[in-house]
Amino acid sequence: MKVLVTGSNGMLGQDLCPVLEDEGYEVIETTRNSMDITDLERVERVINVHAPELIIHTAAYTDVEKAEVEREEAHSVNVAGTRNIVQVCKKQDIPLVYISSDYVFDGEKDSPYKPEDRPNPVNYYGQTKLDGEEAVKELSKYYIIRTSWLYGHHGNNFVTKLLLQDFSKEIKIVDDQIGSPTWTVDLATGIVNIIGKGEKYGIYHVCNSGAVSRFEFAEEIFAVFDLKANIVPCKTSDIQSNVKRPKYSVLDNQGHYRNWEVAFSDFAALADF
Ligand SMILES: NC(=O)c1ccc[n+]([C@@H]2O[C@H](COP(=O)([O-])OP(=O)(O)OC[C@H]3O[C@@H](n4cnc5c(N)ncnc54)[C@H](OP(=O)(O)O)[C@@H]3O)[C@@H](O)[C@H]2O)c1
Repeated sequence: MKVLVTGSNGMLGQDLCPVLEDEGYEVIETTRNSMDITDLERVERVINVHAPELIIHTAAYTDVEKAEVEREEAHSVNVAGTRNIVQVCKKQDIPLVYISSDYVFDGEKDSPYKPEDRPNPVNYYGQTKLDGEEAVKELSKYYIIRTSWLYGHHGNNFVTKLLLQDFSKEIKIVDDQIGSPTWTVDLATGIVNIIGKGEKYGIYHVCNSGAVSRFEFAEEIFAVFDLKANIVPCKTSDIQSNVKRPKYSVLDNQGHYRNWEVAFSDFAALADF
């Protein structure tokens, strides 16, 4: 089966493409250079040339802080860009996999969010991801796959940022934001399983199991990498930020995915930083 991937040089894209190839898919990798999703003509042309049987849309504007100020740019990629892909999928009857986020929820629940729970984003990035979901729902053949707290070997993320800190200084980490850290390789495998099994179209939550605070995640990162750092728990309200974040964004994955600590240990064993 021929699959076109958007954002193939992103953190998830770089792990997803090899997993697809290992499963025997023919993969068409597209980047901002080869197919800027905000350019409808280009999107149409590239999709016409390759005639994929499925599209996996991972490309996005992902800087949650900057999205608050660069609203136009975030909207143009996450909403208008997604609408462009939807438009071509609709015309050519191509099923679409859209990667969405735990940030579509407001974090006011105290038990894991189910796919059918009502989204209510508290920041602009979350709003654009939800608007992208709404666009995708216009199709009859779609998978919306929500995930959370991604980290991987190929991008900027909580783990790499933490490991690049100056360890001689005190590092404050919030202990009142709870989520499920998810390794991009486990997400990639989850996506490939869902499409491979021909699961029913609809919304899925794919993340590693278990829930931790950012502070607890940081403790585990330093323990696994055997590093000494002076990390101190703090509250979200102690941190200067122009963005509101959900305090609890654990997704109900129906126990289908392994525990985050086990996944993190496998990630660390392969890390070369
Ligand atoms: N990271 C997380 O914690 C997290 C959590 C939940 C959900 N998600 C979702 O998971 C997906 C993958 O995230 P990620 O962390 O892998 O993101 P990422 O590393 O930021 O990768 C996003 C990719 O999208 C590309 N892109 C941006 N604008 C584009 C455009 N106009 N046209 C074509 N490509 C464009 C980027 O290209 P450039 O490098 O050229 O900018 C980049 O390669 C996203 O949909 C994100 O919303 C992420």
